[in-house]
Amino acid sequence: MPREVKTKIAILISGRGSNMLALADAVREGRVPETEIAVVVSDQPNAAGLGIAQSRNLKTVVVERRGRSRDEHDRELVTVLQEQRIDFVCLAGFMRLLSAHFLSAYRNRILNIHPSLLPAFPGLDAQKQALEHGVKFSGCTVHFVDQTLDGGPIIAQRIVPVLDEDNEETLSERILEEEHSLYAEALAVVTSGNYEIVGRRVVRK
Ligand code: GRF
Repeated sequence: MPREVKTKIAILISGRGSNMLALADAVREGRVPETEIAVVVSDQPNAAGLGIAQSRNLKTVVVERRGRSRDEHDRELVTVLQEQRIDFVCLAGFMRLLSAHFLSAYRNRILNIHPSLLPAFPGLDAQKQALEHGVKFSGCTVHFVDQTLDGGPIIAQRIVPVLDEDNEETLSERILEEEHSLYAEALAVVTSGNYEIVGRRVVRK
């Protein structure tokens, strides 16, 4: 019998790793078919997400960034990903911009999740930006990563209301809950291959 070939995913984290866990659960439960999480990579040796990944029997690698240039660090990351024959890279709270070398090695194969309805509120503290701006709805976005800050083609979005009594923490929590299911849905679209990128638009085939 031919061996089943699964789409191989790497998840890059820097911190608590709740989106990483949500993706791992979705794969395990068959919500992202024919896919495996081949490796979880952290640039922070103390990231809480590393222990969570290990408790789920996921392979983990630390590629420390301390003391190295972005380019040097990214070259090592790309080497790790290529060794593992990674098809798609999911950034999940990975707090580092990617170099041109990384972007060209995985062009249109890097996904990111951002806690706002892009193009509103890119960059850090998106939930705080939303509160300060006074929007009544925010949400989350999964997009392909390009050379712009949170500006690549959008794969999926979900709307979350902003309530009068919200603070950064309550709004972040409400958005995070939606992030977890949205990321898995977006990854399933991408690994199915049933989409194309037309200009800036990601459309289903
Ligand atoms: C999430 O809010 C995600 O949208 C942003 O960073 C946070 C990561 O959280 N990019 P976690 O590490 O996945 O829990």
